[in-house]
Order: sequence, then C-alpha cells, then structure tokens
Amino acid sequence: MTENKRIVLASRPMGMPTADNFRLEHVPVPSPGPEEVLVKVEMISIDPAMRGWMNEGTTYIRGVMLGEVMRAFAAGRVVYSQHPAVAEGDYVSGLLGVQTYAIVPAEQLTRLDLSLGPLEWHLGVLGMPGMTAYFGLLERGKPKAGETVFVTGAAGIVGATAGQIAKIKGCRVVGSAGSDEKCRFLVEECGFDGAIQYKTEDVDRRLKELCPEGIDILYDNVGGDILDVGLAHLARGARVVICGAISQYNEPRMRGPSNYMKIVTARATLTGIIVFDFQEQYPEAVRQLAQWLNSGQLHTRTDFVEGIEHFYPALMKLYTGTNFGKVVLKV
Ligand SMILES: NC(=O)c1ccc[n+]([C@@H]2O[C@H](COP(=O)([O-])OP(=O)(O)OC[C@H]3O[C@@H](n4cnc5c(N)ncnc54)[C@H](OP(=O)(O)O)[C@@H]3O)[C@@H](O)[C@H]2O)c1
Repeated sequence: MTENKRIVLASRPMGMPTADNFRLEHVPVPSPGPEEVLVKVEMISIDPAMRGWMNEGTTYIRGVMLGEVMRAFAAGRVVYSQHPAVAEGDYVSGLLGVQTYAIVPAEQLTRLDLSLGPLEWHLGVLGMPGMTAYFGLLERGKPKAGETVFVTGAAGIVGATAGQIAKIKGCRVVGSAGSDEKCRFLVEECGFDGAIQYKTEDVDRRLKELCPEGIDILYDNVGGDILDVGLAHLARGARVVICGAISQYNEPRMRGPSNYMKIVTARATLTGIIVFDFQEQYPEAVRQLAQWLNSGQLHTRTDFVEGIEHFYPALMKLYTGTNFGKVVLKV
C-alpha cells in the first residue's frame, strides 16, 4: 500500500508559528473516486498567506481546520486518472496541500505546460505569486511609462516580479529589501533604479533621494512602518496597491497606516488585490510572463528546501526574511 506523508495543523499559532503547531503523519493513500485524480506531489509552494489560513474563521478563504492537511499550492504528476480532462503522466498544480500524495477533483487542477519553464516556476513566477504581481501592478497600479514605482518586500517573488513588470512598462522602479545581497539582486539582476536596505538605511531619506518627484505607484507587500513612510512620499494622483502586510501577520493586532491623510492630500487611491479575482485571465498572464522570462527581460529565483518534514523551517524563512526568492519545498 502506498503511504502518504502529510503535515497537518495540530494547533493554532498565537503570534509567530512554532514547530509544534504542525504534525507529520504517515497514512495510507485511499483510492480516488470517479471524478478524482491521484497526484504524486513533487513541489510545494510556501506562501506568506499560510499564516492567515492557520487562523480560525473565514476571510477570503476558510481557515484550515485542526487536524486537517495544511493548505498549500503544489505541483506534481498525475499517477491515476479516469477523468478525460487529465491523463496519467500530466503535470498539474492546484491546492494539493502539504503532503506527498493528493486526491483532488479533476476540475480543480491546472494542467501545466512545462515547455514554458521548469516546474518550480509554475508555483512562483508563472503561478499564484506571479499572477498577483501581474494583475496587482497592471490592473490596480495602472502604470504609465515615466512614472515612479516603489515596491516594498521587493526581493520576494511577488515584489521582484511586480517591480520588473513596472520596468518593462517604462517606469522608474525603487524597491526596499532586508539585506545588502537582496538590494544588489534588485539593482544588478532585476534592473531596479534603486534599492533601499530598510534595516540599515533611513527609508525616508533614501526615498527623498531616489524618488524626488514622489511615488506614483506604491506596491506594498509589507505594511507597518515602511508603508507609513512610503505614503508620505506619494505624488499627486498616486495609486497605493495593498497586496500584503507581512510585517503584521504574526502580530496579535494588525496595525494600519497612521499616515493615511496623505491619500487625501495627494488625491490618491488605495486599493487591495486578491489574486483569485483574476483567475479567468491567468492563461494570458502566464503566456506573457513566460515570454518575458524566456527573452531575458524578467528574472526569478527559487529558494529550495528539501523534504516534507522541513515544512516548518521552510515556512519560517518567509517571516524571518532568510529566504532569497520563491520558497519551494521539494518532496
Ligand atoms: N493579495 C494577494 O492575492 C496575494 C497573493 C500572494 C501574495 N500576497 C502577499 O504578497 C507579499 C509577498 O509575498 P511573497 O510570496 O512574494 O513572499 P516573499 O516576499 O518572497 O517573502 C516574504 C518576505 O517578506 C519580508 N519580511 C518578512 N518579515 C518582514 C517584516 N517584519 N517587515 C518587512 N518585511 C518583512 C522578508 O524579506 P526582507 O528580507 O526584505 O525583509 C521575506 O523574505 C506577502 O505579503 C503576501 O501575503 C498577496
């Protein structure tokens, strides 16, 4: 009998997750139903949103139940299917969970075209985070050539992709990140016009230097102090795109921006993005991002962690900033 190794939510974190919030289980793989497909999971996407999914209740998606397999986007190979939409041997992605085998209704899977790029890209730049950057920047930020864009959390998969799309669209792009190495990556590899090491530099002073005409698009992944400082630099008619607030996810009470009157004085707009609202347009975005990747206009990095038993340290990389690129757990 085939064995499934899976990580379940054992208890709900209070603040920062701890290792004992999760439990590794070994269970037999049951037989799939007629509409279901059995997938051998090969790579699991580790995402900041997982922290919100560990909470009780529903936000844009229901929280993971105690004892339930930890929710995750993942990709793998179909090993059993009787469904016409998916064949054995196909590579697919979907909400497969943190486990080595997943049984999923066929219609919930996306078939992957590996000619566009390696499997890990389909969880990163060509997957949910890439879609977030693409639609968050283009549909919410509405960039115009010559405008100034400030991306926070810029060396992450969402931030780096959003910033590079803004460059492709002719914008001047500045990003903030938490290490010198990440800042070098932004300027030297991603072509950003400037990078601010927010842990060692004065963000306010650096924004004055790097964005002398103000910020037209603030693409925010982190919230907290950097968002507040960024708001102070908005240009007239700016668009603030709230994509995430990783600095707040492990706080007992989220803190909003105090500098919000700048929205009024700058005649700015502040909007949120939930990537799932753009699902119907994903295929066009995947094609466009793949073309930019393959023509060398877009760069991406993956931070691999090996072994499902290392789910917890892989997750913690995101909240401690020790990841460099898209965190992917290899099964
Ligand atoms: N709205 C949506 O539909 C949607 C979809 C996907 C992702 N998101 C959001 O997009 C954001 C980026 O996600 P990602 O997958 O690209 O993750 P990521 O940026 O690759 O990883 C998280 C990064 O956040 C930074 N960070 C951690 N704690 C921080 C703190 N206290 N203050 C400032 N920065 C901190 C760290 O970078 P440094 O080294 O630079 O500190 C860390 O590497 C997250 O907020 C996520 O929730 C939103």
